[in-house]
Order: sequence, then C-alpha cells, then structure tokens
Amino acid sequence: MVPPRDYSTCLLLFLLLLSSFSHSQSHSATKKIRMREKVRNMFHHAYDNYMTHAFPHDELKPLTKTFTDSLSELGNLKLERLPQDYHGSALSLIESLSSLVIMGNNTEFEKGVLWLSENLTFDVDARINLFECNIRVLGGLVSAHLLASDSSKKLFQGSYKNQLLGLAEDLGKRFLPAFNTPTGLPYAWINLKYGVMENETTETSTSGCGSLILEMGALSKMTGDPRYESAALRALRKLWSMQSSLKLFGTTLDVSTGQWIEYSSGIGAGVDSFYEYLLKAHILFGKEDFWRMFHSAYVAVQKHFRHGPWYHEADMRTGRATYWQLTSLQAFWPGLQVLIGDVSAANSSHREFFNVWERFGVLPERYLLDHQMLHPTEKYYPLRPEFAESTFYLYQATKDPWYIEVGELIVNSLNLYTRVEGGFASIKDVTTMQLEDHQHSFFLAETCKYLYLLFDDSFMLENNYVFTTEGHPLPVLSTWHEKLPETYIPTNWTTLKRQPENRVSPMSLQVCPAMTLNSGQHIESACHIPDVRISDHRCLTDEDCGVDATTCRRRSCSMAGYCGLWLFI
Ligand SMILES: *[C@@H]1O[C@H](CO)[C@@H](O)[C@H](O)[C@H]1NC(C)=O
Ligand SMILES: *[C@@H]1O[C@H](CO)[C@@H](O)[C@H](O)[C@H]1NC(C)=O
Ligand SMILES: *[C@@H]1O[C@H](CO)[C@@H](O)[C@H](O)[C@H]1NC(C)=O
Ligand SMILES: *[C@@H]1O[C@H](CO)[C@@H](O)[C@H](O)[C@H]1NC(C)=O
Ligand SMILES: *[C@@H]1O[C@H](CO)[C@@H](O)[C@H](O)[C@H]1NC(C)=O
Repeated sequence: MVPPRDYSTCLLLFLLLLSSFSHSQSHSATKKIRMREKVRNMFHHAYDNYMTHAFPHDELKPLTKTFTDSLSELGNLKLERLPQDYHGSALSLIESLSSLVIMGNNTEFEKGVLWLSENLTFDVDARINLFECNIRVLGGLVSAHLLASDSSKKLFQGSYKNQLLGLAEDLGKRFLPAFNTPTGLPYAWINLKYGVMENETTETSTSGCGSLILEMGALSKMTGDPRYESAALRALRKLWSMQSSLKLFGTTLDVSTGQWIEYSSGIGAGVDSFYEYLLKAHILFGKEDFWRMFHSAYVAVQKHFRHGPWYHEADMRTGRATYWQLTSLQAFWPGLQVLIGDVSAANSSHREFFNVWERFGVLPERYLLDHQMLHPTEKYYPLRPEFAESTFYLYQATKDPWYIEVGELIVNSLNLYTRVEGGFASIKDVTTMQLEDHQHSFFLAETCKYLYLLFDDSFMLENNYVFTTEGHPLPVLSTWHEKLPETYIPTNWTTLKRQPENRVSPMSLQVCPAMTLNSGQHIESACHIPDVRISDHRCLTDEDCGVDATTCRRRSCSMAGYCGLWLFI
C-alpha cells in the first residue's frame, strides 16, 4: 500500500525565520556541508566493509575483516541456546536501508531491497530476542517499505512491488506466538521457526513488553491485519497496569505471573524505549490514551529520578534512589524531551553528557555519579548513537550552532579512536581506547544517520517523521490517525496544504516549556502548563495560551492540545 502524501499533521509556524542570513550562518553552512560529507564517508566506510567482508551475515568484525551471525546473540549476554545452523539475516544491510535513503543513495537502496526480497528468509531455526528483532529487523523493513512506496522519493521508478512488506508480515507472524501467555506480556525469546521453546525463560524487561507498538502497529496499519497492533497494545496495557502507586515501573518482570522481578529502574537499559514509545505512538497513531500514559510516566520520572541535570535509578515502590549512575543509553532522554518541548531540561542534561564525552573522548557505558568514577567493568563504548541523537534533536529545536560543534567533536572522536581499515570498531575500554572486534548494526542505522541529519536535515522537510528507537523513520500519516481528536486539528489545514513551506515536523511540538519564576530564576518544567486558563490544562486555541514568561512571545496551542512556543524544523 502506498502511503498518501500527507500534510495533515502540519502546523502553522508562527516563530522564527526572523533572523536574517548572517555572515556567521553562512560560515556554519559551509561547515555543515563539510561535516555532512565526512559523515557520508564514515557511513560508506562502515557499509562497504560490511558488504565486502560480512554480508549476508549479520554484523562485521572490522579488525579481523570477518563476520558474526549476531542476531541470535543480541540481548543474549550468556550466549545461551545459540543456533547450530544459522547463517545470518543480512542484519546490517536491513539496518542500513533507511540511512541509504536519507543520504540519497537510491541505487544502493534498491539493490539491497532486491537482494532481500529474493534471498531473505525468516524460516530459520534461531532463537532471537523479540525486542531486538522487532526494533532492528521489523523496524528496518517497515521503514524501508514506507520509504520505497513513497512516490515522491522516486525509488524503483515508482514500480516498487511491496516485497519488503511481505517480509515484514512474515516476520510479524513469527512474533505472535510469543504473546501467547496468561498475561499477554510477550516472552523475551522466540525461535523464528518453532515459536516459543520448551522451558523458555519467563523473565523479560519493561522495554521488551512496552516498545513494540510502533513497528507492530505500523505493520497492522499497512497490512490491514489487526493482530500485530492488538498484541503489542495488550502487552502495553498490561504493563501499564503494573505501575506502582508512584506511577513508576521496574526493569524486569515475569510474563507468566505479571509480577515484577527487579523493582529498581531509571531511564536507561531495560526501560528507555518504553517511555519513548508512549510519546512516539501518540505522535504516530494520534491516540489520546498514549499521550495520557506518556504524560503521567514522564512526570513521575522527572519527579523521582531526576537530580539536577542527572537521572538516578529508584525503587518503584518507595521512590528511594538505588543507583547513582550515568549510562550511555540515558543520553537519548534529552532528545525525547525536545519532542515535548522541554528544551531547557534537555539542554542541561545534554551538557552533562557532553562533559563526560569530553573527559573520556567518548561516552563510557556506565559512570558512577556518587563516586565520580568509571564503573569497574562497564568501561566500553560500542559506538552508541544516543548522544548524537540528542544533539541532533537539540540542534533542530534551537538551531544553536553550538550543537554543530558537538557533532563535530563526536565525528572527530569516532574517526580518531574507532576507525580502522576494516570499518569502525567498538571501544572495549575508554581509558585505554583498546578496540573490540565488532561493528554493531546500530552504527549504520543510528549513529551515522543522526550525525548526518544534524548536518543535513533536508530529508525531514519533505514529510513528518517519527524515528523508532533504532533510528528508522516512519512517516506520520493522517490515515493512521483514525481517532484523531478534534483538538489535534490546529486550524483548517486545507489552507496549510497549499503552503508547503509551513510544514513542520512533529518534533516541533513544544508542550512543556520551561518556566521562569518571578525572581528570574530558571526552573525546569515538569511538563505542566500552569497559565492555561481552561481547567484541565488543555488548550483549544492559541488564545488559551497567553504569553511565554521567558521570551514574551505569544504561545500557541499545539496539535496535542498543549500550550507552547513551537519550535522550527
Ligand atoms: C552508493 O553506495 C555505493 C556502495 O557503498 C557506493 O559505491 C556509491 O558510490 C554510492 N553512491 C552515492 C551516490 O553515494
Ligand atoms: C540472491 O542471492 C544470490 C546468491 O548470493 C545472488 O546470486 C542473487 O543475485 C541474489 N538476488 C538478488 C536479487 O540480488
Ligand atoms: C525442561 O526442564 C525440566 C525440568 O528442569 C527438564 O527435566 C527438561 O529436560 C527440560 N527440557 C528441555 C528441553 O530442556
Ligand atoms: C544550554 O545551556 C547552556 C549552559 O548552561 C546555556 O548557555 C545555553 O544558553 C542553553 N541553551 C538553551 C537552548 O537552553
Ligand atoms: C475547513 O474549511 C472548509 C471550507 O471552509 C470546511 O468545509 C471544512 O469543514 C473545514 N475543516 C476543518 C477541519 O475545520
């Protein structure tokens, strides 16, 4: 099915374009072009080496220039029950497809799609992690399918035959047996050929149950088969029902009993994308329910985990702090905050990650805040994207050239420490910069993509996109917003359609502006809007929103019914 061109979520810009094209801007424009080409070169170095030495296996080992069939190893820390007869699923190619389109390499994209449609099969005796396979493989295929069928991209000269959708549907069907539990919470592991294996562990993570809705929801929208969306939604609702009285969640749980196993959680490993998907599902599918869930969960996080610019972990039952650690995965949070307009809070956390990056040259996996030292074993940096991702979002929101400098620092560090002849290698120990023989597929799907988009966002201007937690873009389509509430309709958008220059991305919604106290002292918003006149804090028109206390600019009522200074993409 070909998605229609869609401007329905477009919003009126009422800010910006105010500044003229100054000298410093033209200087930074030149820099952006130079940096963009540098990132394109990095991507192709990683991609070409994968294609030469590893394809069609899953990932590249850049030091020995060989491969690893790692799909079955993802999330499998103890490397249990590895398959005997599995030879890879071209994982890194699947993960590269949307990046190829974003970087404008249509020929290579088409080649990849043709190869996959003829040669990829999921009928393999391999036990895989549902969450990892969902975000990387299903997400990669769904996103690439949507890009291939977007007629404005002129891929396959308009004659794309939905091959990727067939593959995605086949994979989606193989996911379904995982959801066959008393609670509806899915098993973390499933054998692609045989379904849930005997004696399979019933332990899974919050992310494993709560971040399937974008990919599986999109698959249902595209195939018309509601089973994928229903399964993901049922799991999400069950998970939601397990929140504590503080509205917090744990990290691991049992899918057969619906009981928590690990009560401590934060915003990093095991939970991160659960929060992310509540908001992104709201943007992609327009259901009010997702927003309500996100809002409640977000406020609880800001209340119980946040300590200045840092986020610690806490026990969901008591709210008592458990671990004071900064982890590399947490660095996505500022990007999420930009989506809801909490830019000031995002900026202050981003600065802290930046300071740690500067200190070590990259971001260590875990840093002990209470001891101001590295975690004794988790000193690695596997080329993770999260810091680049947040930098990209913050730049989009603010256009502050400082974030371009940050991007340049990231690019330079990656080239200096991790580039080898055979690709890009992970760092085993950030104190010695000793390398590890692994180029993760997310380096192609996310790290390179977010860096590229930081320097060239032209892709974003054609459509509104939500990026999955693996960096795969999904267009925001009005046809997927069946239950679009009235408040989402900002003005009469038949008018907007005629003004394509007014299109903005959904990430431009600013619904939680930072507030200023009378003293002028800055405090961070906990995502509530005190000066909206209507009682439930929701706005219908711009008139409900008044003037922003920080900038004295008129605030406007967003698509989601919240007041804010909308940002410009
Ligand atoms: C597309 O990718 C292929 C493989 O990396 C490369 O040889 C080719 O030069 C790229 N084309 C463009 C336009 O970037
Ligand atoms: C499928 O794989 C075979 C073997 O590698 C290859 O010869 C063939 O060209 C592939 N199909 C496509 C469409 O690339
Ligand atoms: C499953 O667990 C039971 C009890 O621990 C054991 O006797 C049985 O051999 C296991 N089956 C498999 C296939 O591992
Ligand atoms: C981000 O924080 C820095 C340092 O605190 C400050 O100078 C800068 O103005 C902030 N930028 C935004 C967009 O809030
Ligand atoms: C937009 O305006 C047209 C013509 O004035 C009207 O028929 C339509 O119902 C309006 N749509 C919305 C969403 O207000």
